[in-house]
Amino acid sequence: MKPQAGKNHSLRGASRTRFARVKNHSRFARVKGTHDTLPEAHAQWARIAAVAKQVLERAGAVQLTPPIFEYSEVFTKSVGESADLVVQKEMYTFVDAGARSLTLRPEFTAGVLRAFIEHGLHVRPSPIKLWSIGPVFRAEKPQRGRFRQFHQVNCELLGLDAPLLDAEAIALLYQIFSELGLRELVVKLGSVGDPKDRQAYNHYLREALTPLADRLSETSRERLRLNPMRVLDSKSAEDQAVVADLKRPLDFLGEAARVHFAQVQAYLSDWEIPFELEPNMVRGLDYYRRTAFEFHHGAIGAQSALCGGGRYDGLVEQLGGPPTPGVGWAFGLERLLDALQQEGALPTESARPLLYLIPMDEEAVGEVAKAALTLRRHGIVLHAYAPRNPGKGLKEADRAGAVLAALRGSREREQRAYQIKELASGAQFEVPEGELAAFLRHKARDNEANTLLR
Ligand code: HAM
Repeated sequence: MKPQAGKNHSLRGASRTRFARVKNHSRFARVKGTHDTLPEAHAQWARIAAVAKQVLERAGAVQLTPPIFEYSEVFTKSVGESADLVVQKEMYTFVDAGARSLTLRPEFTAGVLRAFIEHGLHVRPSPIKLWSIGPVFRAEKPQRGRFRQFHQVNCELLGLDAPLLDAEAIALLYQIFSELGLRELVVKLGSVGDPKDRQAYNHYLREALTPLADRLSETSRERLRLNPMRVLDSKSAEDQAVVADLKRPLDFLGEAARVHFAQVQAYLSDWEIPFELEPNMVRGLDYYRRTAFEFHHGAIGAQSALCGGGRYDGLVEQLGGPPTPGVGWAFGLERLLDALQQEGALPTESARPLLYLIPMDEEAVGEVAKAALTLRRHGIVLHAYAPRNPGKGLKEADRAGAVLAALRGSREREQRAYQIKELASGAQFEVPEGELAAFLRHKARDNEANTLLR
């Protein structure tokens, strides 16, 4: 299916694997820019989350979940005055009953650092690696890959200014995407320099662009006033034509930032992580220093950045904490899911039931429900909720995708046994009640179908 702009095709596609689309009887629609994560999509989310958790925790990362909302200053102080989140009023900010200004998190970094400071985590052995997963809110104009409620996996590595940490941050991200089977990934690497380098570059841009301001888009004219570097980030062809011949941020790196950047590249090359130098790398948040990076994917439309991150030394101090250098990143789950789907790298089937129990008379209804309670230790066990004849029951078991079906009626009750059919092969077994658990254990081992996810 060809994806349609603005449609939440990745999640809709996933939901269509087993169920036909039905008429919408709902009186209410979801809010524009949000989406429902349907059961089949959840299996895919769970896989992404499991791979991220495993890769990060094997590297010593620990999970930290800040609240979904914070005092607004936590975000306004960290993301910077010229960030779109502030300039274009993309934060969901509200005043609560106690007249406090609160904001739904537009990213994790600020909340994670606030928690890091508040709980004194800087006393733990450094570097400390904190990872998070959850919903994030930005009042952006919805389009493909751009939602108002989306989900990020985020990781912050704190306590070291060495380029080794920047390279490790990138390597962890690369490893997560590789383990998920993503192939067409472009790692774009840049450096925004130290504050004095940025200042010098912004000064140069202001001088160069002010005489050309009437050729710039309105957004870029505003950016020229607040943070000229962001003009480079413009997607408009006219703006790009204006900036084409100007010097790049990399031309303005001071000695310290240049050496740091060269070392990050050397590590990545040594670790065989392919990357492209992006001389125009400008991130949409103001807190970055030195290394900045994004991973892009060519098949997910205009919003092609799967993830973004960089170094932000000075930010912890800015939020009132002790001097703590840091580097981090976040990737968007929706965009990653879209990319995996475009590459056909998503598991299409969710977990299969190991056993479907079929009661053949009223008495057996309660018996199979009771048996299911203990047998579920070995895998997914479902049952019919009313008596079935064998033909109908087996058809139901088949439709549920079960590996085994078990029949229970008066004859089985007398013999204290279950009649079991292996649905794929048609093989039949008469299994005494007391041996059912061992039988299932054996079949579950034989059959990987009952594992939670492939
Ligand atoms: P960001 O580049 O703003 O960085 O967002 C990271 C990723 O979140 C993007 O690459 C994209 O995949 C996803 N994303 C952003 N906005 C949307 C949206 N409206 N709809 C869907 N997905 C979206 C940050 O958030 C930084 N806090 C990353 C970071 C952590 N830097 C240092 N530490």
